[in-house]
Order: sequence, then C-alpha cells, then structure tokens
Amino acid sequence: MTQLLLISVMLMLQVKGIQGQTEHLYKKLGEDVVLSCNISFSTNLCSSVNWLHSRNANPATELVYGGRVRLGSAGASRLSLSRNCSLLIRNITAEDAGIYTCRHKTRPNLNVFLNTLGITSSSPDDNGRVILQCSLSGYDNVVCQQSSIFWKNKRGIVLLGKGAEFEYRGQTNCVSALAVKHRSENNQRYSCILFKDNEVKNSIVYKPLFTGVSGQTEHLHRGVGDDVLLPCRAKSSSSSCSDVNWVYSRDVDDEVELQVRRGKVDQSSARVSRLNVSRNCALLIRNITDEDAGVYTCWFKDTDESDGDVYLSILKNLPVHNFIIIGGAVVKVVLMFLGVVAALVCLCRKRTKGN
Ligand SMILES: *[C@@H]1O[C@H](CO)[C@@H](O)[C@H](O)[C@H]1NC(C)=O
Ligand SMILES: *[C@@H]1O[C@H](CO)[C@@H](O)[C@H](O)[C@H]1NC(C)=O
Ligand SMILES: *[C@@H]1O[C@H](CO)[C@@H](O)[C@H](O)[C@H]1NC(C)=O
Ligand SMILES: *[C@@H]1O[C@H](CO)[C@@H](O)[C@H](O)[C@H]1NC(C)=O
Ligand SMILES: *[C@@H]1O[C@H](CO)[C@@H](O)[C@H](O)[C@H]1NC(C)=O
Repeated sequence: MTQLLLISVMLMLQVKGIQGQTEHLYKKLGEDVVLSCNISFSTNLCSSVNWLHSRNANPATELVYGGRVRLGSAGASRLSLSRNCSLLIRNITAEDAGIYTCRHKTRPNLNVFLNTLGITSSSPDDNGRVILQCSLSGYDNVVCQQSSIFWKNKRGIVLLGKGAEFEYRGQTNCVSALAVKHRSENNQRYSCILFKDNEVKNSIVYKPLFTGVSGQTEHLHRGVGDDVLLPCRAKSSSSSCSDVNWVYSRDVDDEVELQVRRGKVDQSSARVSRLNVSRNCALLIRNITDEDAGVYTCWFKDTDESDGDVYLSILKNLPVHNFIIIGGAVVKVVLMFLGVVAALVCLCRKRTKGN
C-alpha cells in the first residue's frame, strides 16, 4: 500500500516535472549546487521562504525557516540562501541527495530533485587491483533502477565483460563496480557515465594519483593559426601506422570524439579537413583554432594496453602579451631616465653647496 502511494506520488511529481514545476539535478559529489526557488525579484520575499529536504519517505527536515538557515540541521555550515531565495549547498555529499521543497505562502510549492554521483576506490590488493565503485544517490532507489551506470576507458570504449586491464562487475541498484589494474607506468583514466532518459546526465573521471610524471604524457602550447604535430607515445606491438587510433576530448571529464581509426582520419571529426596522420603516426592538425585545445590520446591495437596522451593548449592574446612586454620596457627606460636626471640634479646641488 505504502509502495503504491509512493509510486503514485513519484508519478505525480514526474508529471509536474513535465509542466515545469519540478527540476531534476544530477551533480558530482563535492560540487556546489544552487537549488532555485524560481523567484527572480524582491529580496524581502525570502523572509517567508522555507526550504525542506526529504529522502526515502522519511519526514522532511526543515533546512531554512523564514529565510534563515536552521543552525541545528546537519551540514548547516555548507548551506546559505541567496538573495533570490535559492538554496546554495557547497561541497555536496551523498546525504544531500533527495527532494528539496521551496515553500512560500503565495506560491505553489516547488520541488527540486537532487541526485549525486560519486566514485570510491578500494586500496590496491596484492596484484595491484583496485575496485572502483560509482554510486548514484537520489530520493530513493527508483532513480537508480531507471538509470544505467556504466564505465568507459579514455579511448571512449564502454567496458563490458573482462579485458587485460579491467573487469566489469555490473550494476546493482545504485552502484556500478569496475575492477582495474593499478600500475604507475600506465596513465589510465576511467569515466563513470550516468545514463537516464536516453541521455548522459553526468559523468565522473577516476584517475589514479601517481606522483611521478608518466613518460607517455606530453604538453604542447601553440598559437591560433599554427600547425601542430602531436606525437604518438603509445607503445606499439605493430610497426605500421595503419593501426594507429586517435581520440580527442576537450577536457579529461568530457566525452571523447574519434579523430583517427586504424590509420585513417575519421570523416565524422569536426576538424577532418585539417587533419592528417604523418610518419611516426603523429597527428598533424593544420591552422589550429581555440576549439582544438584539449587532450589527444593515441593507441595502436585495441588489445595494446598502452596509450599516449598529448595535452594541447592554445596561447591567446599574443598582441596584448607583447604590448605588456613593450609597455613594461618603455616604463623601465623612462624610470631609468628619471633616475639619471635626479642623480644629476643632486650632484649639481652638492656642487653648488660645496662652492
Ligand atoms: C517560475 O515562475 C514563473 C512565473 O513566475 C512560471 O511561469 C514558471 O513556470 C515557474 N517555473 C517553475 C520551474 O516552476
Ligand atoms: C538566484 O541566484 C543564484 C546565485 O546568486 C543564481 O545562480 C540563480 O540563477 C538565481 N536564480 C534566479 C531564478 O534568478
Ligand atoms: C568537502 O567535503 C569533504 C567531506 O565530505 C571534505 O573531505 C573536503 O575537505 C571538503 N572540501 C572542501 C573544499 O570543503
Ligand atoms: C594527408 O597526407 C597524404 C599523404 O601524406 C595526402 O595524400 C593527403 O591528401 C593528405 N590529406 C589532407 C587532408 O591533406
Ligand atoms: C585558418 O582558419 C581560419 C578560420 O579559423 C581561416 O579564416 C583561414 O583562412 C585559415 N587559413 C588557412 C591558411 O587555411
């Protein structure tokens, strides 16, 4: 009976969502979030605003009453109310997930569903294997049952079953587990992807923290309009560039885009007319733009464990930079001149006094 009630409440809330009364947020643990009360004017309105939080059908907790954060509530130090009555939560935790209700006397209640995504990792076992767990937290488990939480490697390939470097352990309710080998010589990254309603809602990247700099990572800086040659530092079991693959992502947290597949420039690449695979399997990009900045990863055969990363940064505002250097030089010359004049004046005065 309670189940049925809960489901109908959920359905009602979801229908309301379609009408623009409910917002669903999918955030990473540790992020700051703003929960909007949809009030964009008058600041003194907030004195009649209450914010409530509830989870798992437990009674709601009052976080904000009469426009003030309740100091007794857990995590109150991370809460604040903005001038438009939005609730700000800093550095969110899994316990912050749930439904937030903004109540105002003269307005209908407004609900915001906050869902959080986080990765935890076990310490390495004797074989250097680490278990990664990607967890989704929401109002209850329903959001997890409706979501797919899966993993991708930095080549953008979904990790299912078992490979040389990983073993997918599946998704149970709100947790998706992946076992990976932890090796300092391999600069691997794994992204946990949250997929719901036919779209990616959010993703988090797990990067093992090794202190040493990996020999397979390269950083390049170029100006707009330059040509750049990105070397492929992946170890190869093949002697030919017909096996080389390149992917691009704007940031390590972003989805990867295919650039080169088995030695051939991919026609779907946004920069297809400016790309070429050179000798040594390096990726040549001509006439680079701001949009080319990001991480480029290459590898040879899909079974090879080694990847090479190149971080490309685009230098901007060179004229302004030059102007500062020139401006600085001019100021120095003027100051030196003034110094010489001052010294001469002093000298002259001393001489006149002496006489
Ligand atoms: C926000 O308020 C405006 C009117 O003030 C209303 O039209 C709109 O539907 C509201 N949005 C949500 C998400 O409740
Ligand atoms: C309310 O203020 C917050 C932070 O000051 C801002 O992020 C948000 O967009 C504002 N919302 C509205 C509805 O004006
Ligand atoms: C965020 O919270 C975590 C614990 O949940 C804490 O370890 C971390 O230091 C906090 N970060 C900031 C910037 O306050
Ligand atoms: C790439 O290089 C090959 C030969 O090195 C050349 O035939 C081809 O036209 C080049 N492609 C582009 C887009 O410039
Ligand atoms: C380089 O790209 C810019 C646009 O980003 C274009 O205007 C210019 O003509 C290109 N130059 C060459 C040499 O292709």
